[in-house]
Amino acid sequence: MHVDWDIKSAEKGGYAHFMIKEIHEQPAALRDTMSPHVDPENYTIRQQEMPLTREQVEDIAGITILACGTAYHAGMVGKWLFEAMARIPVEVDIASEFRYRDPIIRPGTLCIIISQSGETADTIAAMREAKRQGARILAITNVVGSTIAREADQVIYTWAGPEIAVASTKAYVSQVMVLTILAADIAHKRGRMSDEELRDYVKELLTIPDKAAKVLEMNSEIQRFAHKHFDKRSVFYLGRGLDYALALEASLKLKEISYIHSEAYAAGELKHGTIALIEPGTLVVSLVTQSKVIEKTISNIIEVKVRGAETLAVAFEGDTKAREEVKYLFTVPKTSDLFAPMLAIIPMQMLAYYMALEKGCDIDKPRNLAKSVTVE
Ligand code: G6P
Repeated sequence: MHVDWDIKSAEKGGYAHFMIKEIHEQPAALRDTMSPHVDPENYTIRQQEMPLTREQVEDIAGITILACGTAYHAGMVGKWLFEAMARIPVEVDIASEFRYRDPIIRPGTLCIIISQSGETADTIAAMREAKRQGARILAITNVVGSTIAREADQVIYTWAGPEIAVASTKAYVSQVMVLTILAADIAHKRGRMSDEELRDYVKELLTIPDKAAKVLEMNSEIQRFAHKHFDKRSVFYLGRGLDYALALEASLKLKEISYIHSEAYAAGELKHGTIALIEPGTLVVSLVTQSKVIEKTISNIIEVKVRGAETLAVAFEGDTKAREEVKYLFTVPKTSDLFAPMLAIIPMQMLAYYMALEKGCDIDKPRNLAKSVTVE
């Protein structure tokens, strides 16, 4: 008897690619990353697992987040959360920019380094520069014992498990999960969040892994959409606030693996240039999960629609506003606006995957890209 034993397919657990396997592992990655930090009985944050004491938190004058690629986009979510919840000014810098500027690190700066691999050369160099200037270094990484984990003052691990596909998926949602917990811990320690508010926050956070599993049920709907639209030459992503941070990551996913040109814009910037590129048939994907700015983003959707764009929106279930204006709508289970990135990114990852699949791209190893860029 001849057994056709293919180690790669075995590792993919029946999935065609590591990327789609890893997309499906996100509920577990979210749960495993969250579990060490939250107490599901009392709905509090477990203090023994948090890196900063109340005194250290009180001393933070500002936060600088340094990262590359997808980790940088997670940092953009972090900025929004830290500023909104803890009222601490946050800078997010691309690590390769930071290291070649003459960066200013003020006393009391907490520097958060985000890196799935913990080995990205630019991120390591940026971390060393921040450290040299006296910043406290807190790393968020997925690899125990990596250079960044070893050199940082403190580490919070994401427990996404090994990520093989070049395009990051489960590491991203896990990084956002850590930032979501950290933001609440800092806000609470600075007296910006009451015990009761923290309890409500943790209670809702605990529902996120199951809600992420629900999002995965949209698989065939997204596959059908990709089948219809994979021949697009250009796709634009729009959003405001946290939805803008999400748009950046959604756009990166598409271009990395499908080679379709895509750009993400803060929706309000549309009128300052991008709208010139909208022509009949252009696909415009809008992220509309942030209740405070939904109307504003919808007015941008209308602007592109009247110019002939094909419109897709990602919104919460129960949304009535976006639904009326767009041709296609993907919905994710309702949660707090603050937690939207962990759910709304999932259909965007699946969209990128299925667009690339339709185009016959080498999804797990896109051209010219490496999983971990350990040289300059
Ligand atoms: C490479 C990968 C990206 C990743 C980036 C940062 O460019 O292709 O997917 O986001 O490096 O990697 P890190 O391991 O530092 O998160």
